[in-house]
Amino acid sequence: MILVTGGAGFIGANFVIDWLAATGEPVVNLDKLTYSGNLGNLAPVRDDRRHTFVRGDIGDRAAVASLLAAHRPRAVVNFAAETHVDRSIHGPDAFVKTNVAGTFELLEAIRAYWTALPQAERAAFRFLQVSTDEVYGTLAPDDPPFSETTPYAPNSPYSASKAAADHFVRACHHTYGLPTLTTNCSNNYGPRQFPEKLVPLMIANALAGKALPVYGDGQQVRDWLYVSDHCAAIRAVLERGRPGETYNVGGEAEMKNLDVVHTLCSVLARERPGPDYAALVTFVKDRPGHDRRYAIDARKIGRELGWRPTETFASGLAKTVRWYLDNTAWLAAIQTREYQSWISLQYAPAA
Ligand code: NAD
Ligand code: DAU
Repeated sequence: MILVTGGAGFIGANFVIDWLAATGEPVVNLDKLTYSGNLGNLAPVRDDRRHTFVRGDIGDRAAVASLLAAHRPRAVVNFAAETHVDRSIHGPDAFVKTNVAGTFELLEAIRAYWTALPQAERAAFRFLQVSTDEVYGTLAPDDPPFSETTPYAPNSPYSASKAAADHFVRACHHTYGLPTLTTNCSNNYGPRQFPEKLVPLMIANALAGKALPVYGDGQQVRDWLYVSDHCAAIRAVLERGRPGETYNVGGEAEMKNLDVVHTLCSVLARERPGPDYAALVTFVKDRPGHDRRYAIDARKIGRELGWRPTETFASGLAKTVRWYLDNTAWLAAIQTREYQSWISLQYAPAA
């Protein structure tokens, strides 16, 4: 079996569902259930005996050690993290606690477990760190995309905390020989994404007839990766990736934020005709330190592991919008007090 951390969040839950369908191998899922963790994300595997959910913190070394001893996983995939850049700007502490110290404690528990394994199991064991393209910093319009050898230059508290975690993973391989793998991917979108991130926030606001808040001039560029393509990439890296290596994962879909929002408005107009969604677009104050452009060179994972994205931005976005239209109860359950306080804090008009 494998151990997944953060598997009640957006990508982790999609990964658990996808993993069981694709491989049938049992999964233990360790998640703290922070504001973005949601057992509702795991509804499709609620009665699946191959899935065991455990509420807990990756930073609790003793708890992770007992979990490892009890279940003896052959691999660990670490999704658990604080993940929202804007929240990291308002309050970086939780990012240091979970992303830096938490990953370190997790690695220490895993290192002790791995060291005591019989030789064949030690050799076959894998630790996969799910990281981000944000660790590479920002690109000018004509710069080549990020490759695996681009130096780290994180610009936000979030990306700095992910970069620090990646460095501990790297050191654990280099110093102790732990068979680690790291993936650095671009912006995911798809079902079950917490509606603080661009795509689901815009869908939720558009459906409620609220403003669609575009930061600054909306000309920042991101690469968009459909979540099930990301899950397939992680499976490929886990099975065939070379220990100690990092792999960039991208969606071959570089777009300006304003174009993303307008495309989303057209998809919504097709799927739920009526309001003039584009008229809701509103320019708001920019994110401090906002990275201008991310782009991914994913040739290494293509060449070595034969992975490529299967969804275009148009096909992935159509599936995403349909999922949100079919799951309004999921959305309503999230839009509780904590969510409303976040929205008020982040989008309050400038005094
Ligand atoms: P998310 O915020 O939706 O989910 C994070 C999950 O981690 C939640 O279920 C939360 O409860 C859990 N968690 C947080 N702190 C924990 C702790 N201390 N112990 C155990 N569980 C904890 O995030 P996501 O978008 O699914 O991101 C998953 C991973 O992928 C993160 O590591 C993130 O940095 C990385 N990533 C995300 C994207 C993206 O576009 N969403 C892109 C690149 C990389
Ligand atoms: O690149 C990978 C990263 O993508 C992940 O590591 C992060 O965990 C994930 O949150 C995401 O970070 P971003 O900051 O790129 O995603 P977000 O959805 O917050 O914003 C996407 C872009 O849209 C960014 O340029 C900021 C802009 N934006 C975002 C929001 C929430 C707006 O213009 N308006 C908004 O209201």
